Amino acid sequence: MFLNRIALRNYRNYDELELDTSSGVNLFVGPNAQGKTNLLESIFALALTKSHRTSKDKELIGWEGSEAHIHGLVDKQYGAVKLDLMFSAQGKKAKINGLEQRRLSDFVGSLNVVMFAPEDLEIVKGTPGVRRRFLDMEIGQVQPGYLHTLQQYSKVLVQRNNYLKTLWASSGDKQGLLEVWNVQLADFGVKIIKKRKYFIQKLQQWAQQIHAGITAGTEQLTVTYKPSFDFEDETVLFDHFMLKLSQVKDQEIRRGTTLVGPHRDDLAFFINGKEAQTFGSQGQQRTTALSLKLAEIELIREEIGEYPLLLLDDVLSELDRNRQTQLIETFQSKVQTFITTTGLESVDLGKLQDAGIYHVLDGRVTR
Ligand SMILES: Nc1ncnc2c1ncn2[C@@H]1O[C@H](COP(=O)(O)OP(=O)(O)OP(=O)(O)O)[C@@H](O)[C@H]1O
Ligand SMILES: [Mg+2]
Repeated sequence: MFLNRIALRNYRNYDELELDTSSGVNLFVGPNAQGKTNLLESIFALALTKSHRTSKDKELIGWEGSEAHIHGLVDKQYGAVKLDLMFSAQGKKAKINGLEQRRLSDFVGSLNVVMFAPEDLEIVKGTPGVRRRFLDMEIGQVQPGYLHTLQQYSKVLVQRNNYLKTLWASSGDKQGLLEVWNVQLADFGVKIIKKRKYFIQKLQQWAQQIHAGITAGTEQLTVTYKPSFDFEDETVLFDHFMLKLSQVKDQEIRRGTTLVGPHRDDLAFFINGKEAQTFGSQGQQRTTALSLKLAEIELIREEIGEYPLLLLDDVLSELDRNRQTQLIETFQSKVQTFITTTGLESVDLGKLQDAGIYHVLDGRVTR
């Protein structure tokens, strides 16, 4: 799919913007604090009805006004779609071809994007929580039921933890309800673990191939699932989960918290057999995070039959020339790409066929 046109009104530092884009690479160049990230953010928001860097919608509204508008024309396989999203203090409104959508979830998915920004380095360097969030967001994009299961699991987890605390207070006398919580926890937990396992396998296949491409075959990336407890056979996963819970019961009561389950899962990344988080260079870690995000592009295509847009904020200059070139060549003929950079000197322009080059200055964009 392609975003042919984007228009903004009172969005962040853009009073008024109308921009026709190129179906290949779009390069936004400008000094710091001019609105490059804001522009990419607006495209992300049009796809997901929220920003990638804040959960406070109010921050998106330009300081001088009370509403922010994003308008986009999207070309899809089956035709053109007009999208409108409006943010105000009262909330947000979304329209598809002029028709207001009662539920935002009906609007999400009209435009698909994959964003890669500097903070995504944390997927490799950060805590397990960051990796779980990455995993959950990516699975959620392609499997609508997943996030709901995750919510149900979290609810049970909170209640079970509260119950464990009461058990400790009553010195473990009455444990009648623990079994009930265990069954629910394992029930939802097993569903999540299975989805994660399946998704990570696919992610691994694509990420490995893409990583090899970006590094011209010098690095082999492996992605592995690190569940909170080991299991060999998926068919007995539920029993295994229950067994694990019984083994840690005393410890859980003492600590008042649930010690096994998908809320303790993690992912590990290896480059040529060495753990990337510990041994990877900054550039290798960045390339790893990038390969994971780019794998998502292929996963989305598998799921919806079309390529999403790729948004690259401030990452090109961080990659060496070889990696830049490989990256661009991998996607340039199939994926519409939006790239920001502070200077063209760090970009290998020779590799960019018909790139649209735009200059961003103080909330204005010129070609
Ligand atoms: N709600 C808002 N209303 C008006 N201006 C805003 C709003 N939010 C942010 N800004 C302005 O937008 C500017 C930042 O824009 P942006 O983050 O897009 O910069 P950038 O071009 O990506 O810079 P860098 O190269 O440093 O990443 C800030 O200077 C800020 O003053
Ligand atoms: Mg920026």
